[in-house]
Amino acid sequence: MFEQIGLIVGAAICVGVLLQLVMMTLTSLRRVVDDRRARELELELLRTQIEASRKRRALTAEAEKAWEGWRKFEVFRKVVEAADTSSIYLRPHDKRPLPGFAPGQYLTFQLNVPGQDKPLVRCYSLSDSAREDYYRVTIKKVPPPRDKPELPPGRSSTFFNEVVAEGDILDVKAPHGAFYLDMTRDNPVVLIGGGIGITPVLSMLNAIVDSGSKRETWFFLGVRGGKDHPFKEHLQQIAAEHENVHVHVCYSNPTDADVEGKDYQHAERVSKDLFQRLLPSNNYQYYLCGPGPFMEAVVGGLEDWGVPSDNIHFEAFGPASVKKAKPPAPKTDAAEAVEITFAKSGKKLQWDGSFENVLELAEANGVMIDSGCRAGNCGTCITAIKNGKVKYPKDTGIEVEAGSCLTCICAPDGPLELDA
Ligand SMILES: Cc1cc2nc3c(=O)[nH]c(=O)nc-3n(C[C@H](O)[C@H](O)[C@H](O)COP(=O)(O)OP(=O)(O)OC[C@H]3O[C@@H](n4cnc5c(N)ncnc54)[C@H](O)[C@@H]3O)c2cc1C
Ligand code: FES
Repeated sequence: MFEQIGLIVGAAICVGVLLQLVMMTLTSLRRVVDDRRARELELELLRTQIEASRKRRALTAEAEKAWEGWRKFEVFRKVVEAADTSSIYLRPHDKRPLPGFAPGQYLTFQLNVPGQDKPLVRCYSLSDSAREDYYRVTIKKVPPPRDKPELPPGRSSTFFNEVVAEGDILDVKAPHGAFYLDMTRDNPVVLIGGGIGITPVLSMLNAIVDSGSKRETWFFLGVRGGKDHPFKEHLQQIAAEHENVHVHVCYSNPTDADVEGKDYQHAERVSKDLFQRLLPSNNYQYYLCGPGPFMEAVVGGLEDWGVPSDNIHFEAFGPASVKKAKPPAPKTDAAEAVEITFAKSGKKLQWDGSFENVLELAEANGVMIDSGCRAGNCGTCITAIKNGKVKYPKDTGIEVEAGSCLTCICAPDGPLELDA
């Protein structure tokens, strides 16, 4: 009996000891797991702090490189790219580092052109990808309007092509603009340039290639013929070296000297028909820039093909006529239409909502107002308000004094009288 009790007590003690051992093992295992988790959390926190401080340093470095207002740049290289078309390479005169930019953005220049009583302000797209030491713009001389050949050609584009020389110093505002390619994404894109409208889309193409991205990229360029074909060798080299990039150059008016299949691929205009023949589907993000009629035709064609408007991104270099390809702006009721008086020109015009801004209404009716960026950033179109108020659909990129307005982005807020 005592023996059995002893056995039971012994067994109970053994089980107790065993249980204690199991508990101790479990406790130390849990401690090991907890310690490891705590170390992982510490490491994660450290990594987040390092990344945040790297981002802070990068942002501070970019902010230190950016500048306000005008900065002096030296022209250190000038290259003729095609007929009446030159690239101007610029490095900062103060030799301090340059901020980067998003491919598609532009520079604003203030030019002292001989014979002009005040400086001309003009915008030119950056035509290369972002570099640490220089910016490049590519400028085509603008001829007189076809119906007025007696007028002088464009002042600043002629100045750049015929007067500006290596060693000259120019005043430049920092890169700006909302028409750019998002380089953090790798969705397939179609880049389309008409004539000198190649500049922002070439910057996008170069940025894709330089980043080593394998993003599916289609590049279409439309020009009249070989004489007007800028960056021919550069585009041919990109097409030969990058499987993900498909380059198609269209000549609308090739000469006998232009060889199809070598100098260019298609003797036709860039159009919806061409896209339908070449692109596997219409499911791309489209970025395009070119003269008014080119943009109207291409944007209209893409919309006819069922490309959603949100997938079509474009920039006009001059008075924008692309809105015609988009659904017409809703017109204001006659009762709501307001009158804008242009005091200097002696014109009274009705604002009924068919124009996007006061500048476009003025230009369409022969009232001349200087413009640069046409996006509320450069200040060239500032015009004094003699009576009335204006409203802005978006924030202005610069501060505008009370009593003046940026005609390129404003609309009247009631009857308006401008000093133009
Ligand atoms: C965001 C943006 C980016 C741009 N990027 C580029 C680019 O990369 N490359 C590029 O080449 N351009 C670009 N441009 C266009 C550029 O800014 C200028 O608009 C263009 O060079 C014409 O300027 P200009 O001074 O030479 O012409 P202006 O002197 O302003 O003349 C314009 C036109 O008016 C005509 N004209 C002259 N006198 C009269 C008169 N009395 N009455 C009526 N018409 C007259 C001229 O013959 C000419 O056809 C860009 C524009 C914008 C807004
Ligand atoms: S044209 Fe540049 S702000 Fe209006």
